[in-house]
Formats: sequence, C-alpha cells, structure tokens
Amino acid sequence: MIVLGIETSCDETAAAVLDGGGRVLSSLVSSQVKLHAPYGGVVPEIAARHHLEALPWVVENAVKQAGLTMQQVDGLAVTCGPGLVGSLLVGVAWTRAYAWARGLPLVGVNHLEGHVVSGWIDTPLLPFPALALIVSGGHTALWRVPQPEQYVQVARTRDDAAGEAFDKVAKMLGLPYPGGPVIDRLAPNGNPQAFPFGEIKTKNGAPGFSFSGYKTAVRQHMEKAGIARLQSPEETPPPVMIDLIASFRYAVVRELCRSTRHAIDTERPRSLVLAGGVAANQLLRLEIAKLAAERGLALSIPPFKYCTDNAAMIATAGRPALLRGENHLAQLDANAGLTLGGVEAQRTSRRHL
Ligand code: KG4
Ligand code: ZN
Repeated sequence: MIVLGIETSCDETAAAVLDGGGRVLSSLVSSQVKLHAPYGGVVPEIAARHHLEALPWVVENAVKQAGLTMQQVDGLAVTCGPGLVGSLLVGVAWTRAYAWARGLPLVGVNHLEGHVVSGWIDTPLLPFPALALIVSGGHTALWRVPQPEQYVQVARTRDDAAGEAFDKVAKMLGLPYPGGPVIDRLAPNGNPQAFPFGEIKTKNGAPGFSFSGYKTAVRQHMEKAGIARLQSPEETPPPVMIDLIASFRYAVVRELCRSTRHAIDTERPRSLVLAGGVAANQLLRLEIAKLAAERGLALSIPPFKYCTDNAAMIATAGRPALLRGENHLAQLDANAGLTLGGVEAQRTSRRHL
C-alpha cells in the first residue's frame, strides 16, 4: 500500500509518501518560519491561510519526488490534532475532500503519536518497550511505548514546553526567532556554571518538567548582572550574556535528563527515543546518548528532518490502521485538544505570543 501523509498542525505544511514496505520515498516540508519571525511566534490566522496556499503544491511535489503519480496512492493519513484549530482544519478538510473524490481510505493521526513514531522511521527494529522523550516548541513529555500503537504518558511539563522556553528567553535577550538554534549555537562559547538555575522540585521527586521558572530566573539574572536586551537581533551578544545563555541551556538539558533518568529507572524500557525540534540541541543529544549508553539502552535520535514537524512521521503512524482496513473518512474532524493515551495533551500559551 502506497501511503500519502499530510501534516498541517502548526506552521509547517508537509506531505510524505511511503512505499509498500513503509519506507519513506519522499518527505517535503514548506516552513513558515520567515512569515512568523517578525511577530516572535506563530500567528494562527497567517498559518492557516498559508497552509491553504501551500498544501496542493506540497502534496503534488511529494508525490512527484517519490517517482509516482497521484493515481498510485492507495491510502491517506492526516494529522487531526492536537494543534492550531485553523491549521488542522485546512489539512483535514483538504484530505477528506481528496479521499472522497478519489475513493481512497483515510485515517486521522494524533500529532504526538507521529513524534513518538518518528523514532522508528529509520530504525524499524528498535525494541519495545521504549521510552520516548518528545521535546518541541509545543510539547514536552515522556511516553512509555510498551508495544506498537500503545502510549502511556509518564511525565509532562506543567507549564512551558522546552522549545517555548528557549524561544521566550531568546526574545527576552533580543536574539532572533526561533531562539532554540541561536542559543544552541552561542552556548558553547559561554560558561555553563556562571549563573545558578535551581533544580526543579516535583512531588516525591516524580518525573515532570517545569520551565517557566527558568524564564523568571533569566530575567532576574539580567537585572542583577546589568545585562541589557540587544538593540537588534544582528548585534553580537556580550560575553556575560553568552555565559547566561550557556547556563540556561545547561539547566534545561539537566532537567530533561534528570526526569528521563528517573523514568528509565522506574519504567525499565529497552530503548530510548529522543525527538521533536529541541532534539536538535547539541548538548541534549550528547547527554541523552550518554544516558542510553550508561543504562544499556538502544537509542534512536531521528535525523533533524524527522524531529521537526513532518509528514513522514504522520504517514508512518497512520499506516498500521490503513493496513488493517480502517477508514475515518465519514467522521474525521480536527480536534485541537486531542489526547494521546487518554491523557490531556499539554496546551501552551506559545500559540498566542
Ligand atoms: O518540533 P518543532 O519544529 O515544532 C513544534 O512542534 O513546536 O520544534 C520547534 C522548536 C522551537 O521552539 C525551536 O526553538 C526549537 O524547537 N529548537 C531548538 C533547537 N532547534 C530547534 N531548541 C534548542 N536547541 C536547538 N538546537
Ligand atoms: Zn510537533
């Protein structure tokens, strides 16, 4: 079965094609980062409008790059939530109309399941049970995956997502958007011990994240050390600001690893997955790889193109249901607050920056 996957949950318009064996033939992403950069965050109305313009073109080119024609597609998988409702609606409505016109089966995919499943795209034999740390601009959580298509949330952030914290701190310092990659590039030049960031306390030391306190800590450190916001995003930050950036990155990574270590010890998985846009972070990759080696776990950190929002992960997640003969065409709708494993998906304020 040739599967076409479609993803429009936030600010990336994406389409991907899988061959009969589930291998990725093509994966195309049209990013809107430049459109939203002047606003310092995603503007929902702009995102939805752009999906409407980009989707037909992105789908057509994904199929072309796969070396196929639209007539050869056998099944469709589309993200139906969680995400921005306007963005989700464009993808769901477009794909439903297409499925109906062509008489193809269609399944709705949970975006978070897509992120977890990205760990198996290039390493299909990664053993179960697995533990997946999903860190992006919209979500930060740890999932236990006892077997394919089963997800149990073991920890989540109580406030900001990790990527959101990177973006907000960068904005506070006057650095360009999105802040994660910029902070990651600057941090190796600073001293990660220069500024203290306390450990995050949770009840009984149970795994769980919280990053909004670090935002406040950055603001307080700026005031105390007399660090002024940059006048323009092009300005070179002074050494003391680079020390603050390094200390902040170090603290975020330390917290992510602390919760992951705790979850490994209680859940006893055989493998570890790190995915989501923040999985691009150099320090986090290094520390998670160390942790996996220490605990003797198989490790999957997907290539960056499968860490950030993409449709290959959506097609991969939807494929088993399509192979079973499921078809959600009649009842599929966008659901901005869709849950995974019966747990409420984390909602953040990032969408309204
Ligand atoms: O998964 P993604 O593309 O979109 C969401 O679903 O949110 O993740 C984007 C997030 C942004 O917050 C961005 O700042 C962050 O990932 N990010 C990073 C790095 N590269 C991207 N954060 C830390 N270090 C990086 N190298
Ligand atoms: Zn995502």
